Amino acid sequence: MNGNKTEILRILKSSGSKPVSGQEIGSKLGITRAMVWKYIKEIKKDGYEIQSSPKIGYTLKSSPDMLYPEQIKIGLETSLLGKEIVYYDEVESTNSIAKELAGKYPEGTIVIAETQKKGRGRMGSDWLSLPGGIWFSVILKPSIPLEYVAKMTLVAGLAVTKAMRDLGVDARIKWPNDVLINGKKVCGILTEVDAEVEQVEHVILGIGINANVRLNEFREDIKENSTSIEAELGEPIDRISFIKDLLFQLEQEYIKFKTQQFSNVVSEWISLSDTIGKKVTVTTPTKITEGKAVGITDRGALLILTDNNVKEEIIAGRCRY
Ligand code: BTN
Repeated sequence: MNGNKTEILRILKSSGSKPVSGQEIGSKLGITRAMVWKYIKEIKKDGYEIQSSPKIGYTLKSSPDMLYPEQIKIGLETSLLGKEIVYYDEVESTNSIAKELAGKYPEGTIVIAETQKKGRGRMGSDWLSLPGGIWFSVILKPSIPLEYVAKMTLVAGLAVTKAMRDLGVDARIKWPNDVLINGKKVCGILTEVDAEVEQVEHVILGIGINANVRLNEFREDIKENSTSIEAELGEPIDRISFIKDLLFQLEQEYIKFKTQQFSNVVSEWISLSDTIGKKVTVTTPTKITEGKAVGITDRGALLILTDNNVKEEIIAGRCRY
């Protein structure tokens, strides 16, 4: 959507139920009333319901349930994340697109799609992207060594958990970064990195959220352990407001990470963790570790007290309990 259309929407949204005249919109944007009318017609085609009352003006009656960039940008309280949003109706995977775009687009760019045909999960698994969900990837370019990327995984999990809790659900984080509600998975995060020797070029945080997904849509093999925000809340959420809050939370946690306040991220992560205190089995490509999850280290690793009373740090892996 072009800048004038976004601005018209911004004006109509902030005016609420009070009509705004074409004259007023036109003089704010420096365009004619006829141009305003042309843009209004285009905006309506995108699914917005706008009432036009002759001699009175325009009122925005409803917005489509689509993740259009202009909807996310209006009222977004971030200074970095989501300033640039690349929107698709359908893609194979937003992470794959974000990886391709990362060189050309600035830090904080979001790649978002209504549908993913080949969503990717951690450790080579596929990710089922059902209708009503939220699928997006964030391009970040921190100047950090490769070993710090595990910390960013915790940053993302914490931000999603906090945004969900703002909706009133008891979201908790399963290490490394699954978000659960009542023990069932509601969100998965895929962190992918491009690095030169030891220095990170960019990090792609791919976030998949079962927002307004119907439980009966889940595949048999994941049905038992999956849930959606809608199912847990008992009503659908406003996906746009949720994304705005999530981007805000993510930016706040990212700032803490970049300004040497990672210990604050860790303590909050622990307080919202589903994993700490539990008996876990963690599988990495080289070993399986069993024991009690007792903490997170300052490099973002899970600390396990094994059955032989030895403390082991694991930076990444698959966790079961
Ligand atoms: C997992 O739990 O295995 C991680 C799932 C990550 C899914 C998201 S959806 C948006 C982004 N694009 C992808 O292809 N994957 C991530």
